[in-house]
Amino acid sequence: MCGIIGYVGKKAASPILLEGLRRLEYRGYDSAGVAVLDKANLAVRKKLGKIDEGIARLLKADPVAGNLGIAHTRWATHGAPSDKNSHPHLDASGKIAVVHNGVIENYDLLKQKLIQAGHKFKSDTDTEILAHLIGDYYEKRLAKSWWDERPREPKATNGSGSPGASPHQPPKGDTLTQAVCDALREVIGTYGLAVICADFPHTIVGARRGSPLTIGIGKDENFLTSDANAIVAHTKKVVYLNDYDVATVTPEGFEVFNLGADTANVQISNLEFSQEDAARGKHAHFMLKEIYEQPQTVLNALRGRLDFEGATAKFGGLNMTAAELRGIDRIVIAASGTSWHAALVGEYLIEELAQLPVEVEFAHEFCYRNCPLDKNTVLLVLSQSGETADTLAALREARRRGHRALAIVNVVGSTIARESDGGIYMHAGPEIGVASTKAFVSTITILTLLAVHLGRMRHLSAKRALDVLRGLEALPKQIEKILTQNHLLKKLAKKYAKADDFFFLGRGYTFPIALEGALKLKEISYIHAEGYSAAEMKHGPIALIDDKTPTVFLVPQDAMYDKTMANLAMIRARKGPIIALASEGDKAIRKVANDVIYLPATLDLLNPILASVPLQLFAYHIAVARRCDVDKPRNLAKSVTVE
Ligand code: AGP
Repeated sequence: MCGIIGYVGKKAASPILLEGLRRLEYRGYDSAGVAVLDKANLAVRKKLGKIDEGIARLLKADPVAGNLGIAHTRWATHGAPSDKNSHPHLDASGKIAVVHNGVIENYDLLKQKLIQAGHKFKSDTDTEILAHLIGDYYEKRLAKSWWDERPREPKATNGSGSPGASPHQPPKGDTLTQAVCDALREVIGTYGLAVICADFPHTIVGARRGSPLTIGIGKDENFLTSDANAIVAHTKKVVYLNDYDVATVTPEGFEVFNLGADTANVQISNLEFSQEDAARGKHAHFMLKEIYEQPQTVLNALRGRLDFEGATAKFGGLNMTAAELRGIDRIVIAASGTSWHAALVGEYLIEELAQLPVEVEFAHEFCYRNCPLDKNTVLLVLSQSGETADTLAALREARRRGHRALAIVNVVGSTIARESDGGIYMHAGPEIGVASTKAFVSTITILTLLAVHLGRMRHLSAKRALDVLRGLEALPKQIEKILTQNHLLKKLAKKYAKADDFFFLGRGYTFPIALEGALKLKEISYIHAEGYSAAEMKHGPIALIDDKTPTVFLVPQDAMYDKTMANLAMIRARKGPIIALASEGDKAIRKVANDVIYLPATLDLLNPILASVPLQLFAYHIAVARRCDVDKPRNLAKSVTVE
């Protein structure tokens, strides 16, 4: 949700920032802008619209020079998408430029205070308030320091963090960093922040609270970004900042201190993915690439975790002993959006295989409704990005209440990964398409493994566990087979692309997949789609069925087959067109469905994984047929880092 990149070094900043913005665009694409410093000359360019039509054109027509700069791609929170509301924003003097992700909650109060002091604002954003506040403190610091020492630019050390001159304080004399800290002490809300000042031609100041920020360590150059994708072409050495960290970044190094602690916890990590992993390759869209990666990403999720000898699954990072795992009485799974749908599948899996009670919560509801948690309840959060604000808040709430919180996460080093007590990585590689696909399937794959692991500590027989493990092992090949039906799904998509409404129905294990199929279609094609339990349909929603409302029926030959077929007949009787996802060899379905997509035979509990893939392709091709921007759907952004 919004993207930040900053560069300081010897190279021209503008092309690096522009390329970084392109890589960050999936984070927000309402508008974008850059601020570049050439000695004391601060140049700002910003423009409404996507990168290539907006800021890239502007920079071509009106270039900026300099070896230091910050840039931002926006997903609007305060103030409509427009040129004036785009970042960077300047302070009153025009010397300080700020880019910001997050929300300043007390911005109105701060704004009134600044207006009384004579400040005038050009935009409707909370970020401009912050820029003015920093500028105000900077002027005060300057006025004070004039008598004892002139403001000087910091000489940051060679890449190691330092706690600053005294606890909670930036290095003495670093006026810009100090002014940023002064301002942040007044701020309520969340921020990932990059600040530059015309008086400091070699310094970027970054700060984080609740919105990710990472330092990229180069040779004679350094970076600051909200998302490592933006800098992986330049360096693989990074430092993930923690909440309340403030960083001063120069070409020679960086210093980090923490506003709330005596020392900052600075650890250098290596990025696990390459530039190619985060590129679209031969595919027309990232979403399509990611759908096609699934045979591999499922393999990655399974790698090293299938234990045929012990008839169980094994994990390295749960950080719980067998006795502790055995002692869990109840699991609450909290997640948002697509990950919440995966959680519903997880509930069915864990309850069936481990006979452990599971409750699924929207992450935001979990945080604020004070649900009872007894002492042996564990919270499990699911998140592709590891940065979703609602999910992070749920994790923190559970931990605050003294509960253990585990996580299934894709992005290595993300905040949720770092703050959880233990967890399991998906190893699915960067997911850039705003509509989540491969991460959903990886999450369910891992939940199946986890259910086996917990089940084998309870009543699950070795035989049943081995069946599941073998079923899991067969998935990559089966997904490959489903992908060969792409042409058929494309044809179907063309046939149904003009529909205004859709239903997606399933029962048992495929009920959550019906919800997910509907969400995929809504997100990228803007068609109204409802996911329902096929059984629930008759209790009301069936009133909406007519000959123009297609239903995608998930009807594999599982334990619910006969009952789902009866539900299907009800739709048929009302002339609703039916697209069925059925098991290979099911001939009967042809007689009642208008169109059929076949799924390879598997265990009932693995149907969610296989059924997801054709639904992803179906949504994808409908969106393409309707000429929608698949990777940048309107109003959305990857990773929602505001509550
Ligand atoms: C998925 O297609 C969505 N764009 C969205 O619902 C997403 O799954 C949700 O915001 C949660 O994201 P996370 O998995 O990164 O936490």
